[in-house]
Amino acid sequence: MIEELLRSRRSVRRFKPDPVPAEVVERLLDLAVTAPSASNKQPWRFVVVERRATIDEMAAAVRAARARIEAAIPEGSREAVAAYGEYFTRFERAPVVVVPIHRPLPLLSTLADGRLDDADASAVAQMERDSALVGTSLALMNLLLAAHAEGLGASAMTGPLIARAEIARILGVPPGWDIVAVVPLGYPDEVPAATERKSAAKVTRTIR
Ligand SMILES: Cc1cc2nc3c(=O)[nH]c(=O)nc-3n(C[C@H](O)[C@H](O)[C@H](O)COP(=O)(O)O)c2cc1C
Repeated sequence: MIEELLRSRRSVRRFKPDPVPAEVVERLLDLAVTAPSASNKQPWRFVVVERRATIDEMAAAVRAARARIEAAIPEGSREAVAAYGEYFTRFERAPVVVVPIHRPLPLLSTLADGRLDDADASAVAQMERDSALVGTSLALMNLLLAAHAEGLGASAMTGPLIARAEIARILGVPPGWDIVAVVPLGYPDEVPAATERKSAAKVTRTIR
């Protein structure tokens, strides 16, 4: 069951215009927040965007950032970069866009209060940041799988974060919180082909 779910999930980027009932979105988020998190601090929040004008505004911000970035790319690579950048706005036709955000928990760094040497201070700060990001990413994976189990399509997207600051402003993300990804959600209007994976054996090193 879990194997079938994991193996059949695909990133969906084309959606039917049909709205997703609010209770379905709520159920998916209820499942998302069953994820584990460091010290069970649940460092996540979710911004659910259903308003078409807001999704359009987010997409426009990503296009503007893309145009700025593409203008800085040398002529020879610009076409390839433009094709890649097409994927950054693939959330815009979804009826719902979920934006998971996270906040680091500066517990050790606050207690140590500047008394750590640079190496330990940097390791502690990174641990605190990454813990929140990892926990929220696990909740995001739950969301993708729960959506798939429900017959919905979804995709994690970080490409749109080239416009991170603009999207945070559009969504009113509070200071101290950071966007993890943009997640379009809707009834699939495509059956994406299976994607290749390197075998686990190829990407694993076992220390015995
Ligand atoms: C962290 C992350 C960021 C991604 N960003 C984008 C994106 O910006 N645009 C997009 O179309 N797909 C994005 N994807 C989807 C990947 O392209 C997709 O997961 C990968 O090609 C494997 O395909 P599959 O998910 O269908 O197995 C992202 C996936 C992850 C995990």
